[in-house]
Order: sequence, then structure tokens, then C-alpha cells
Amino acid sequence: MQHCLTLTLARHSRLLLRNKITSVSYQRSAAMSGLLINQPKYAWLKELGLSEDNHGVYNGSWGGSGEVITSYCPANNEPIARVTQATLAEYEETVQKAREAWKLWADIPAPKRGEIVRQIGDALRKKIKVLGSLVSLEMGKIYVEGVGEVQEYVDVCDYAVGLSRMIGGPVLPSERPGHALIEQWNPVGLVGIITAFNFPVAVYGWNNAIALTCGNVCLWKGAPTTPLTSVAVTKIVAEVLEQNNLPGAICSMTCGGADVGTAMAKDERVDLVSFTGSTHVGKTVAMMVQERFGRKLLELGGNNAIIVFEDADLNLVVPSAVFASVGTAGQRCTTTRRLMLHESVHDAVVERIAKAYKQVRIGDPWDPSTLYGPLHTKQAVEQYLAAIEQAKQQGGTLVCGGKVMDRPGNYVEPTIITGLAHDAPIVHTETFVPILYVLKFKTEEEAFAWNNEVQQGLSSSIFTKDLGRVFRWLGPKGSDCGIVNVNIPTSGAEIGGAFGGEKHTGGGRESGSDSWKQYMRRSTCTINYSKDLPLAQGIKFE
Ligand code: UN1
Repeated sequence: MQHCLTLTLARHSRLLLRNKITSVSYQRSAAMSGLLINQPKYAWLKELGLSEDNHGVYNGSWGGSGEVITSYCPANNEPIARVTQATLAEYEETVQKAREAWKLWADIPAPKRGEIVRQIGDALRKKIKVLGSLVSLEMGKIYVEGVGEVQEYVDVCDYAVGLSRMIGGPVLPSERPGHALIEQWNPVGLVGIITAFNFPVAVYGWNNAIALTCGNVCLWKGAPTTPLTSVAVTKIVAEVLEQNNLPGAICSMTCGGADVGTAMAKDERVDLVSFTGSTHVGKTVAMMVQERFGRKLLELGGNNAIIVFEDADLNLVVPSAVFASVGTAGQRCTTTRRLMLHESVHDAVVERIAKAYKQVRIGDPWDPSTLYGPLHTKQAVEQYLAAIEQAKQQGGTLVCGGKVMDRPGNYVEPTIITGLAHDAPIVHTETFVPILYVLKFKTEEEAFAWNNEVQQGLSSSIFTKDLGRVFRWLGPKGSDCGIVNVNIPTSGAEIGGAFGGEKHTGGGRESGSDSWKQYMRRSTCTINYSKDLPLAQGIKFE
């Protein structure tokens, strides 16, 4: 695996070098059009079916006549290409087509639906490097992480294929003679999927693969700042559907902003709204869906902590904390934002982590040697600066970082801040940037309480060798998060588990385990196969 990765990286860097050389002669024409897609260096974007102007609506055919948006590369703020978003009329047409397509899709046996999902996984496998490169270019995360999130989609497709022969309910003992009591699971119908910029492939994949297997059709609205990735993914999926003579509207897409999102949230025909994003926007979406008693699946903010006890293996702690706080430039919902260190190891760990931070290779995200790329937007840079200012005002001390970097793109220094109170307002705020707040604690009780005192409840980790402590951490008075780890980082969850969190994280579960239940409705069915009519609870009504 490691060997395979090294080869991939070597090939990728040769390609980059070759492209660099050939690009010189084309620079003039590229400069004229101004879009990166026209530069030979980015010619691979065409392998994904992308062009200067792209349709932002798919419902069996491609269209879009709404606002034209330009997608920018966060590493240099240069325009990549444009996408024409959906109008509300096009949204309306797409919902109708998706619901029409459901009539056909719901009748296909689940294992046969699984076969289509298997083909989607295979189609993604073929494009994994080029799609990963697009994620890197458009979102700004490093190449291996871009590929990694396509891998999550591939993996969840495999998972969903297996599921397609396993989902079902129990046959329960009936108290009435000659009666069968069974649970039947049916698809909800149309699943609206609203995803965030930070995982523009994986989060759609988790929803799409499971929802399809369960017999639903999907309508996707990706983040307005990663529209090219939405288009490229939809092209891959659409090709599979079309090759199988299935209606493309089974996996529809309407690129758009808050207008399309609001329409989905309010639309009674959207049977489940799966929303990933900030707690703030998620709350608005949730209220709109609740207003119509619709179903919702929320994956909102996190404020994840790593707790390091006195007996922790520091050789595991240091790389874990660095990966989880610096990785993806702090833009995962599972990013470690609070590092709680036992007073006996506090200074040693801070010193080692600060040293590791200084060695993080910062550069173009698609350069295979880079570990740390830019923030996604200029607004995020502003949020980073504001958070550092507040942290200082609230008593924090900068150990490293704290500045915007003097280079093109949205680069900021990964930052460590010590000395804040565990309940300082900034420590309780999720700022989606690479700032790590280091807190010093004395007792297990205190550390567990601090872990749980924030509003969010997504991910959490302890580092310890004490077995009793491990089980206290997993138990009722331990972590209150959806993801509860031991001796590993807070980020980087596998697809096989249910992913999601409690409290202001929204309570949803996606991806593995029994998350499929969120995409289906359950009927409790009692069938009388006798000639009598005994009533439950022994009631006689004669
Ligand atoms: C997210 O940040 O929205 O556990 C998802 C992780 C990834 C998924 C993160 N597998 O970090």
C-alpha cells in the first residue's frame, strides 16, 4: 500500500514537471482567456468532462440558466472555470423528474440496485487520481487527501453493495395465534443532499451510495464554491446510469446557493433533507424541514478535543495531534480544536508539537510533498485573524503561527495557542481554521467534563494506557460525542462506522453501521393468517 502510494506520488510529480515544461508555450493564450482550465498544465480537467462553461443542472439531461459562478483556486485565487447554476424553475423541473424516476428505481430489487452502486464505485476507481486532483485544485486540500475522499466514496459504494443483500427487519413473536409480526423497511423516496465545501466528494458519496441502495433517488446541491467537483462527480455517476438505460434523474444535481437550499428544505416532496455544514445554517435548514414535519439528517459543527493523560504514549500523541489539527488546514468537522494536556506532560507535549508544526511542509496542495495547503476562501482568512485577536484578548498566548502568509492564495500559519481558560468563549467556538487551543488539566473528571461542556458533540479522543479509564471514557459518564476514540486522532474516521455527532452537531448518522435506517421508513406489519380475530392485550370486544 505504502509502495503503491509512493509510486503514485512519483508519477504525479513527473506529470507535474512535464506539464510545467509544456505550459510555457501556451502561456500567452491562457492569459488571454484567464481561466486555469485553458492552461495546458490543467488540461487534465477535460478528462472529467469539464470545460470553460459548465452546466450546473442534471436531471437526465444537462442544463442550467441561472447565475453564472466562477470557481477559484484557493492556492492562488485564480479562476478555474465557470458553472451556470439552477434557476428555481429548473429546480422544480428536476424535482419532478427525480420523483418520476423514483417510480422505476423503487421497483428494482435491492441487490440489482446494489449492482448499479458497484458500477458507480468502479467508475470512480478509474477516475480517482484525476478527481482527487480536482478536489485539491478547487477545495485546496492536499492531493493525497483529495484522493482519500474519493476513496471514501469508493469504499462506501462497496459497503452499500453488501448492504443491498442485507438490509431488512426482524420477524417478531406475535402474542396473537395465527398472526405474523414483521418489520418492513421501504425507501423514503427523494433524498435532498446538501453538502459543504470541505468534503465535496466523500459526504455526497456517503449519502448517495446508501440512499440509492435503499431505493431512493437523490438530488444534490454541493457547496457554491466547489461546483466543478459537483459537476465532475455527477458526470461519472450519470454515465453509469445512462449506460444501464436508467433515468439520469435518479442522481440529479442542482447547483445553487441559499435559494436552492431553502427550496429543498421547504419542499414537501423532498422526503429527507441531508444537510452537512455549519451549525448556524443547519439550524435554519432544520427548522424549515421541521415546520413541514419532514425528515432531516444533520451533520453540523464540531469542537473536538484530544485529551492526553500522564500515561500516554507521546510518540502516538504528537503525530495524532498534528494530523488532526493541521491536516486539511483545520477544515474538517473532525479537526482537533482543543488539546487537553495533563499538567505533568503539558510543557513537553507543547514543545514537541510546536517543533512538528514548524516542520510541516507548506505549499501548493497538488504538489505531492505538501502537507498543508491554503484555506478555502478569503473570508476564512478573516475569520482566522479575528479568532486569533479574540484568543489574545481572552488571555491566550501564541506559541507559533498567528499570521497570514506572504504568498498568493489563502495561506495562514498553523497556530497553537496556550493559556486560555477551558471555558473561554473562543475555546467554545468552532472557527473552521487551523488554530489549536491547548488547555492544562489535573484530573480525569475535569478533562471529561471539559470535553463535554461545549455545545458540539462530534469527535473526541483520549490517549492513555489505563484500561479502566478507556472504559470510563466509553461509558455513560465519559465522552458525549458521536465519535469516541482511544489513542488515535479525532479526524480520519473509517466509512464502516456510523458517522455523526450529538447536541449542536445535529444527531445525524451517515455512512456505515445501521445509518441506512435514516434513508428508509419502517412499517410494523401484523398479518392475520388465521380464521379468528383475537385482539391484542386480551381485549374482548363482543
Ligand atoms: C467532514 O469533515 O465533514 O473523519 C467529514 C473524517 C473524514 C470525514 C470528515 N472521514 O475526518
